[in-house]
Amino acid sequence: MSVRIHEMNPLPAALHEQELAGYEAAYRNHYQAWAEVLARNVEAIRRGSYSLHWMETGEARWGKRAKPSSRGMTYADINRIRGYGDLPEQATWFNFAPRGAVRDRYRDDMPVIGDYTVTDKNELWAENVITLYEEAKARKWNATRDIPWDEVEALPEDLEKATAQLCTFLTEVEFVAGDFPAKWLYRIPQDFLEVKSFLATQLMDEARHQEVFRKRALSCGGLLHAAPGFEWALAAILEAPTHTMGTFLLNVLGEGLVLSIFRSGEMIAKTHVDKEIFRRCLQDEARHVSYGVMELKSYIAGHPQREAAIEELHRFCDVGEQVILTAFTEPALIEPLAVLLGGGLKYIDQGMEGIRHVWTMFINEYLQRCECAGFDRRTRCTIPLEFPWGAAA
Ligand SMILES: [Fe+2]
Ligand SMILES: [Fe+2]
Repeated sequence: MSVRIHEMNPLPAALHEQELAGYEAAYRNHYQAWAEVLARNVEAIRRGSYSLHWMETGEARWGKRAKPSSRGMTYADINRIRGYGDLPEQATWFNFAPRGAVRDRYRDDMPVIGDYTVTDKNELWAENVITLYEEAKARKWNATRDIPWDEVEALPEDLEKATAQLCTFLTEVEFVAGDFPAKWLYRIPQDFLEVKSFLATQLMDEARHQEVFRKRALSCGGLLHAAPGFEWALAAILEAPTHTMGTFLLNVLGEGLVLSIFRSGEMIAKTHVDKEIFRRCLQDEARHVSYGVMELKSYIAGHPQREAAIEELHRFCDVGEQVILTAFTEPALIEPLAVLLGGGLKYIDQGMEGIRHVWTMFINEYLQRCECAGFDRRTRCTIPLEFPWGAAA
């Protein structure tokens, strides 16, 4: 007897038997500390006795008065207070206990979070991270309200398609720009709270960027083509073996290129709305690039085996640059850029001249950024210094 589709029972929703059993086993059988704390607390409540131990200041850095500076109360201002601003070279606290709080005496009763694996300060710190965090908060904008969407003008079809394709590329890129810091953010222990705060702003920036380019594409025809060349470059960033290496590939190399594109916004953007989008994204990307350069600098300067660390970075770059090159050479990026730079499909060849200029500018800036970080990539760079298109002609 056949069963009609509408008579069939829906499949049961997925259950999480294994995950739940693992959690139960961990908390009921393996971790005992929490149960002892609970028993102690319940006993105290039963006796009706107050502890008030939290009012003891013998081990606390109590009695301080942080003073704001001209910008307000920044992390730099509160870090001036002794004992609060001392960042460890190597983190040893793998839970949520705040730096500067009374915590040593509780250490043995506290959980250890195994995901906090980025323990070296020089794998994440950048001298300018507090300033960049302040700047990110001061310059935040809203892709819903701050772009004059009702003034989007219809462009000729070729320029409209080229704009939509560029937006498709940028939307794709912005996802990894958010996923990469997200992947590392939760592996960074609390003692490096300033870096965690800055990375949280980068996440928000990138969410806003993918939002604004998606909205721009849908306001001029829709999204066009995703591309394997983009995807491999993005995967190489997300799967970088260390935070510093991935930050280099994303923030210095990848976002450095995006910055060069945004800087050319005057020529690439065809309307005042697009110019405004590029201008706002440019400010955000400049912060991300700046963090990347200074993080790399701090890594190299602070490494106990400096030469070996630099050689390791070169090894990573030898492959990383090549994978990123798959995106830089992708027709789904180069061609729409050339159409926009040239001013139309029939001027695509002239547009390619513009690309040649953007390429040279970008590679020079990239090599300068490496140099500024103390990483000389000039003789080893695997990306052609001149735009290779048409080189044989
Ligand atoms: Fe971005
Ligand atoms: Fe970015």
